[in-house]
Amino acid sequence: MSSTVPKDVLDTARSARRVAVLTGAGMSAESGIPTFRDKDFGLWTKVDPEELATPTAWFQDPARVWAWFAWRARVVQKSFPNAGHRALATWEKRERTTLDVVTQNVDNLHERGGSRAVTHLHGSLFAYRCDTCGEPYEGDLTLPHQPVERLTPPACPRCRLGNIRPDIVWFGEPLDRGRFERAIEAVESADLVLVVGTSGMVYPAAGLPAIARGQGVPVVEINPRESDLSDTVDLRWEVSAATGLPRLVEALER
Ligand code: OAD
Repeated sequence: MSSTVPKDVLDTARSARRVAVLTGAGMSAESGIPTFRDKDFGLWTKVDPEELATPTAWFQDPARVWAWFAWRARVVQKSFPNAGHRALATWEKRERTTLDVVTQNVDNLHERGGSRAVTHLHGSLFAYRCDTCGEPYEGDLTLPHQPVERLTPPACPRCRLGNIRPDIVWFGEPLDRGRFERAIEAVESADLVLVVGTSGMVYPAAGLPAIARGQGVPVVEINPRESDLSDTVDLRWEVSAATGLPRLVEALER
């Protein structure tokens, strides 16, 4: 793993005016948010996604699922954007540059790190809606201070029939169409797509780099380990997000 910016990565970044950055859980790992599939500390190595992140799980036992998501929201609330998030915000502010973040992450660390154009493909831990009438929910919520087994979700104040659920895309659910179209537009119109901290295993998000390459847009991967996308990208830099991104953005300033 080298922390010196590879020359070909720097040259590609220097010439880019429209940058799209596709991020995954590795982007927030150095903020203390667990990834999903990393050995030892990945969330899905500890819990079965089928038990906690599917509509079936929710309708069987909303209190169990709500407790788990509420705890994850609390963990994010207590964490801070890392140097990688902040570097992307700095890059976005450079003259004659647009930078779109397309994230699979449900945390809010890109926004808190200063990025303005963020598309959340998989929803957000901080957005809620009724599981029956779909009405967005902006009422009060109490997030637990410790992990708890069960927590009753609020009842929908509008239809009074449903429960309030996280506005997150669970396994088996489609992506929000508008958000996915925005993501496609961002990668197709970019002159650089940077892929940071994703295993590239979950589609359709993992298909975005190929869509970009189909339009001739160069794709650069930043990830300390190989991913499912590594063989298909144009350039790779084996480095962590919080080390690599600040180095890259500092090098652009020179
Ligand atoms: P994964 O857990 O599948 O992959 C995390 C990736 O981050 C791996 O490729 C790691 O090598 C890399 N990584 C780890 N630490 C890193 C660091 N410090 N800097 C850079 N990279 C690092 O997470 P995702 O690819 O985001 O879905 O998973 C995709 C989706 O699967 C998630 O959005 C989630 C999950 O089910 C939903 O929540 C809907």
